[in-house]
Amino acid sequence: MDPPIIETDRFTLRGFVPGDLDRLAEILGDSEVMRYMPGSRPWTREMVGKELDSIIEHWDRYPYGRWAVVDRRDSMMLGWCGLAYLPELDETEVAYLLDRGYWNKGYATEAARISLRFGFEEAGLERIIALAFPENAASIRVMEKIGMTYDKMTHIWRLDLVQYEITRDMHRRLGPLESQ
Ligand SMILES: CC(C)(COP(=O)(O)OP(=O)(O)OC[C@H]1O[C@@H](n2cnc3c(N)ncnc32)[C@H](O)[C@@H]1OP(=O)(O)O)[C@@H](O)C(=O)NCCC(=O)NCCS
Repeated sequence: MDPPIIETDRFTLRGFVPGDLDRLAEILGDSEVMRYMPGSRPWTREMVGKELDSIIEHWDRYPYGRWAVVDRRDSMMLGWCGLAYLPELDETEVAYLLDRGYWNKGYATEAARISLRFGFEEAGLERIIALAFPENAASIRVMEKIGMTYDKMTHIWRLDLVQYEITRDMHRRLGPLESQ
């Protein structure tokens, strides 16, 4: 499917396009951004190109995926947020990653809430998980703020990661997006 475009006051969620490669390579080339991502080091342009292809293809295979987060003021692409199917776990995760200059302004929380709502209300998912290095306090804080709860430690990609979860029922109890 074509990724839907979702507008908020501050940013637009839109599908990625091949022309996003330069900007995404800039973001994923930052060692601070990549500290708690698999590999724990900046990605090469080639790695970013493969990731971009897989993000774009994901929307053809599943009724959900990751969006590019784009600043409405100047159309700058800030990173990604959205949902990804993990065949290793047979689960769907909510994922978020932003350029360092945009951290701690609530962008990831806002975009992740939209992603959960889309997953449960549009894509028909029953459960969504999130994974993080135990040291990634900002990521874990986002999980808590969007109503996810600790599930267990999970071994994946040769890493021990914390796994948080939220079910459709838990999400419904959170109430409308505006009141969260
Ligand atoms: C994780 C990430 C997406 C969060 O994005 P963000 O837009 O800054 O998130 P938000 O502003 O919505 O929320 C961040 C929360 O973490 C808190 N936080 C940030 N750094 C923290 C730290 N070192 N220790 C504890 N809390 C921290 C913030 O205070 C905020 O919580 P609050 O609203 O209660 O004050 C961003 O840090 C990032 O892109 N990191 C690199 C990529 C990454 O690790 N992605 C997650 C992979 S699992």
